[in-house]
Amino acid sequence: MSETRGHVRIYEVGPRDGLQNEATPIPTEAKARFIGLLADAGLKEIEATSFVSPSAIPQLADADALLASLERRAGIRYPVLVPNQRGMDRAEAAGVDAIAVFTAASDAFTTRNIGMTVEESLATFAPLLRRARELGWWTRGYVSTAFGCPYTGRVEPSRVIEVAARLLELDVDEVCFGDTIGVGVPGQVEELTGFAEDGGIPLERVAYHFHDTRGTALANVAAGLGSGVTCFDAAAGGTGGCPYAPGAAGNLATEDLVYFLDAEGYDTGVSLAGVLEAARYVAGVLGKPLATKVGQAGGWDPATGAAVARPA
Ligand code: COA
Ligand code: ZN
Repeated sequence: MSETRGHVRIYEVGPRDGLQNEATPIPTEAKARFIGLLADAGLKEIEATSFVSPSAIPQLADADALLASLERRAGIRYPVLVPNQRGMDRAEAAGVDAIAVFTAASDAFTTRNIGMTVEESLATFAPLLRRARELGWWTRGYVSTAFGCPYTGRVEPSRVIEVAARLLELDVDEVCFGDTIGVGVPGQVEELTGFAEDGGIPLERVAYHFHDTRGTALANVAAGLGSGVTCFDAAAGGTGGCPYAPGAAGNLATEDLVYFLDAEGYDTGVSLAGVLEAARYVAGVLGKPLATKVGQAGGWDPATGAAVARPA
């Protein structure tokens, strides 16, 4: 395909969602190097870490030190997760300019994840988002368990849209629907996008966050694209999981997503070879083989038929 079908944003969550549930302690320098490689690959939005309780997420307890040591490049957004005022204070002290608040479609999940009901979380976020607006920051609001909750099962799309609309009323720039436990399928993605449109939510303010737990993530991306959404989350190396979401496995791998979008004719500005380098780096840091599809096979050059950027 010679003509591009348009630009698709890839929002990289490897350093945050990818690492938050890893038991092996990862040195702060290695996290900074991983983020540097992701930036080298052309990623423009890299979720760097979380300013959450260190007892909730020990792996990200070094968030302040990481931000202090991170070389932040012009033109790249490095959002951080913020759950409460304490997290906001830490984010301000660290000099960030983009945050993500996170709630869910189900109280059972938010109660375990952040110790609040959905309603309480929205009340907690309101002043933080007001302050972020004053500071001119970019903001995202996650709606986790958008296709299913590990504690209560099926989630209705109307409920997801209700929570998203509340976040937009609090003035987030973007809402992101998270398939936290990777149970969604394409028909549900189309249905949810349709509910968003019917609810008056502009699709340029919607992102999808898929986990490949059951192998449906790329199919879900295709459904998201087909229904008009153009921002997708992914983690280089396909790492990831949430300690409060039993059964949550890896995020959609950035390398799988980039291969797919390139071949489908979308413009992402991201280099597959660069992402593979970052993915191999993080797999090495974790002492695990790179198990993603494109991580193993490499890319493919249609001019020659040869695999490219394949592991040695
Ligand atoms: N940064 C650092 N420490 C924080 C903090 C923050 N943003 N918010 C609270 N804390 C500390 C408190 O000081 C307190 O410390 P102490 O035990 O040494 O006194 C402890 O964390 C508990 O704080 P409390 O206000 O009682 O909250 P809680 O126990 O109800 O926890 C959250 C609420 C939101 C802080 C916690 O559940 C959390 O950080 N969750 C994040 C989970 C997550 O990131 N999941 C993955 C992303 S989907
Ligand atoms: Zn996730």
